[in-house]
Amino acid sequence: MYIDFFVSNAHTHISGKSLIPENDPTVLFTTAGMHPLVPYILGEHHPGGKRLVNYQKCIRTADIDEVGDPSHCTFFEMLGNWSLGDYFKEEAIRMSYEFLTSKKWLGFDRNTLSVTVFKGDELVPPDEESASIWRALGIPDQRIYFLPREDNWWGPAGKTGPCGPDTEMFIDLGKEPCSPGCRPGCYCGKYFEVWNDVFMQYMKKDDGSFEPLKNKTVDTGMGLERTITMLQGKPGVYDTELFLPIIEIIEELSGHHYGENPETDRSLRIISDHIKASCFILGDEYGIKPSNLGQGYILRRLIRRSIRHLRKLTPEGGFLDDIADTVIGMYGDIYPELKTNRETIASELNKEEERFSATLKKGEHEFEKLLPNLMKNPRKIIPGRVAFRLYDTYGFPLEITEELAQEHGLSVDKKGFEEAFQKHQELSKSGADKSFKGGLADHSDMVKRLHTATHLLHKALRLVLGDHIAQMGSNITAERLRFDFSHPGKMSPGQIAEVEKIVNEQIEKELPVSYEIMSLEDAKNDGAIALFGDKYEEKVKVYSIKGFSKEVCGGPHVENTGELGSFRITKEQSSSAGVRRIRAILLDKQEN
Ligand code: SER
Repeated sequence: MYIDFFVSNAHTHISGKSLIPENDPTVLFTTAGMHPLVPYILGEHHPGGKRLVNYQKCIRTADIDEVGDPSHCTFFEMLGNWSLGDYFKEEAIRMSYEFLTSKKWLGFDRNTLSVTVFKGDELVPPDEESASIWRALGIPDQRIYFLPREDNWWGPAGKTGPCGPDTEMFIDLGKEPCSPGCRPGCYCGKYFEVWNDVFMQYMKKDDGSFEPLKNKTVDTGMGLERTITMLQGKPGVYDTELFLPIIEIIEELSGHHYGENPETDRSLRIISDHIKASCFILGDEYGIKPSNLGQGYILRRLIRRSIRHLRKLTPEGGFLDDIADTVIGMYGDIYPELKTNRETIASELNKEEERFSATLKKGEHEFEKLLPNLMKNPRKIIPGRVAFRLYDTYGFPLEITEELAQEHGLSVDKKGFEEAFQKHQELSKSGADKSFKGGLADHSDMVKRLHTATHLLHKALRLVLGDHIAQMGSNITAERLRFDFSHPGKMSPGQIAEVEKIVNEQIEKELPVSYEIMSLEDAKNDGAIALFGDKYEEKVKVYSIKGFSKEVCGGPHVENTGELGSFRITKEQSSSAGVRRIRAILLDKQEN
């Protein structure tokens, strides 16, 4: 309905993207529908035009520890509509209101709708405009809440960039207010957020001031799970058809019933959420395998935590793939990549279970042995080095130890754990999913230059190693590029030198960089490199580096390869089975 509604309002339906962000080092997973659209919000031309709508698979791990309560989930789908310099507040809010309350669409009782708007501060005035649009639609003043920057402001992630106020929509469940200060956003659960319209109307400048933007954009996000919960009058997301079939299969396999006991309910929710998220990560276009690094480590944590909770329900194991089958059955028509990768999903889940089962029991036993001593600690804190030993020897992700600790009224010295971890190895960043709240990725000149260099590298690799080279991931910071690609073996020093030489030749030639918009089919016929996940029905942007490379890509890029400086590969290593990883930098000509 969401897609139909916005298509009937002249939006182009664009496909969602991979869960693994491309070219964006600020975050491990796609955390919102706007995330893949950041370049366009920053001003790149979108081939779908100025009005866009889609649904996007998302993973948020910032509050992974909260999963288990009735409302948090790791994987969710976000519905979004965008205006790239087209409509602004008036039309955005009117459309939100119509979709939420019209009988033809969702049909929520408008008397249950409460909204929040930005209250203003010393830097930016209050968002009276949004408030008056809501008033004109019939929302009474007592249901329009003016809230501060923490609640109703988005971006920028860095020091500067586009940002602005938002207006959030809540369904009031009709409970008594928990206190005189009870309002949307209050944790008591009276108000349930369903939608957020963000109005990017300012540019934050270096000196911290805000200047009105010429090219204003709208970015909205509606949580599918939350909205369905409200539509169906359910107490929480886990009571909807988006979770119940998964919970049912676990009930069948474990003999426990949902609603029987708060402890087992919590486990049922954790397993259903974590296995669903794991299926989507393993089954993504850029599938990730469990590992001790980055996204792979998040995946490992999700699977291992599910296994521990499964063991609490039943001593039997070996049925993660049955749970996965249910997830694939529920979602496979909408996300066909799950069906394509069914084998990988099942075998990776089973392998991870084998690896972890071997040490889980021993680790739990070790923990129990330590327990009497730990309980004597007056501060009831488990030292970081103990948590690290459980991690290092028994493969316990920190939150498993934390959970075990909580079950005995203890907490864990997380800082001590991190220190022990860092001392041990340089993998410190792996577990942390930097949050993307308000995040607009860095589009500095250096990032653009490295992005263009990545296209040169990709083509040069094909010329030197062969056409089997496929991009498996790209990650760019202002310091370096990192490019993962499929290739069976190590590159020889000669091959590396040859690739460098080809890239530098294209830089010397000062080739112009430009783009054209065309159908994906035309792009492929034209010989453009296209990535997995680009879907047929769409128009795409094809960036050409004159006479050298053509690639389907959103941008941004520099205008001429002459701007790049000098290209140097600093590392070539294995990333995972059959995947190599290159790191490279650009040096100023004189530095070289
Ligand atoms: N970016 C906003 C959100 O995630 C709206 O899409 O809520």
